[in-house]
This record gives sequence, C-alpha cells and structure tokens, in this order.
Amino acid sequence: MSMDLQPYLETALDAAYLAKGIHQYYQEKGFTQSSKSTPTDLVTQADRESETAIRELIASRFPGQGVLGEEEGQQGEGEFRWIVDPLDGTVNYAHGFPFYAVSIALEVRAQLELGVILDTARSELFTATRGGGAYMNGRPLQVSRQDTLLGSLLATGFPYDVNKDAENLTYFQRALAKGLTVRRPGAAALDLAYVAAGRLEGFWEVKLNAWDVAAGWLLVQEAGGQVTGIQGEPYQLESRYLVASNRLIHAQLLDTIHGR
Ligand code: IPD
Ligand code: CA
Ligand code: CA
Repeated sequence: MSMDLQPYLETALDAAYLAKGIHQYYQEKGFTQSSKSTPTDLVTQADRESETAIRELIASRFPGQGVLGEEEGQQGEGEFRWIVDPLDGTVNYAHGFPFYAVSIALEVRAQLELGVILDTARSELFTATRGGGAYMNGRPLQVSRQDTLLGSLLATGFPYDVNKDAENLTYFQRALAKGLTVRRPGAAALDLAYVAAGRLEGFWEVKLNAWDVAAGWLLVQEAGGQVTGIQGEPYQLESRYLVASNRLIHAQLLDTIHGR
C-alpha cells in the first residue's frame, strides 16, 4: 500500500512528546497511584493523563479513527487503528527507576504502518515505518550481528500474575541453566526497541498485549530482526507470547527456552 505516512508520523511524534511532558511533570510533582489486576499491577495519574492527551490529539487531527489504548480500551472503528501504551514500564516509573516509555503504533487495514517509542526519561526516540527502516534519534538502526547465545545479552519479562502462572519461570530457568545472560528490564516496548538497536540480541515474554508490542514489533522487523510466537510460528498482535531477536540467534533461543 502506498500512502503518505508523514502526517501520521508527525501526529505520533507530537503525541509521544505530549506524553513525555506528562511523565516528567508527575515524576517531579508526585502522583497518585492505584492497582489494577493484582497488587503489583499499577496505574498512575501519568498513565491515565498521557492516554487522554494522546487520544485527544489523535481525535483533533483524525476525527473518528480507532484507538486501542491500555487504560481506556478500544474506541472507534474503521481502517485506521492507533495502538497506544501511554506509559510502558509503570512499575519502574512509580519507583523512579528510569526505564519506561510511551509507545504508539498505527495499523491501517490490519497492517502496521508506523511505530514510535519514546524513552521519556532518557529522551531516546525510536521510530519505524513499514519498508522505511528503523531509527533512533534519526540514526538508522540495525540489529546486532552476534550469532552465539553465550555472547548474547537477552531479556525477558514476567506478567503481573506470575505467582499464579509461572510458565515463564521455566523458560527463564532453562536460559540461566545454560549460563546465559538474561535481564528483566521491565518495559516490553523498550526491550523490543533495544533488540532493534542491537543492545539486546533477544527478548521473549509471555502474556503481552497489543499495546506493549505493536510499535516494537515493527522496529525489530525494520532493523532486520525477527519476531515470532513462542513456538517459532508467525507472530500476530493477539499472540501474546513473543520471541524477538537479531534473527541469527532465533532458533537457538527457541531451542533453549523449550529445553531442547
Ligand atoms: C508491562 C511492562 C513489563 C512487562 C509486562 C507489561 P505496563 O507493561 O511492559 O515489562 O513485563 O508484561 O504489562 O503495565 O508497565 O504498561
Ligand atoms: Ca505495557
Ligand atoms: Ca502501560
């Protein structure tokens, strides 16, 4: 499909910087917070106000387009769907641990066309358009060329109900048992952006949502990496179980987490 993405990209960038202002404002001023699905699943004033501001900006530029956001769900329908995580890494944010971001993607007729992830503590901006490459602060990104797992830096994440469903502990343990280096940074969108940037060779997680993944998925693809489901099948936004890598270690990473 050929369409002029520029107005959409500009809107995604403006929306991301609006969220950055809100993240920073509440980091300095202090914020209220409450829990959602579990006591550790937090939502703060910054999450809610960022999503509201992003929705208002999109509605003012493109009235009626669909928006799926973490805090307010799906609103509107049609060929265009914005997919928004207003603050990915909320637990980090709530503790002042500076690894969190806003993630905004645009899907047109069920195909991802652009993704923007802004690390609002570090001011690192990750952008990708389908077929147009991936960039960090305007510089082209490429995944790492490392081809061994022992030479790789890997990351994973755990769902908020990890105490009830420890599936990923098995994968994690298998990776550690091979002596691999695995981090748990706490913001899936940035984890994916870091795979695109070559800072991580691989990342996997279970029970992610579309807003955690949409922009990062496009970034990894556009930087030359690979994203699949947990068994190596083609990834879909609804898959929830994801493995992302620089492509070179993908099969080895799948073998490792499945104990092969
Ligand atoms: C969470 C983060 C975390 C991941 C969780 C997500 P939130 O998103 O991305 O790294 O492990 O699965 O839910 O709640 O901070 O937007
Ligand atoms: Ca998230
Ligand atoms: Ca969030």
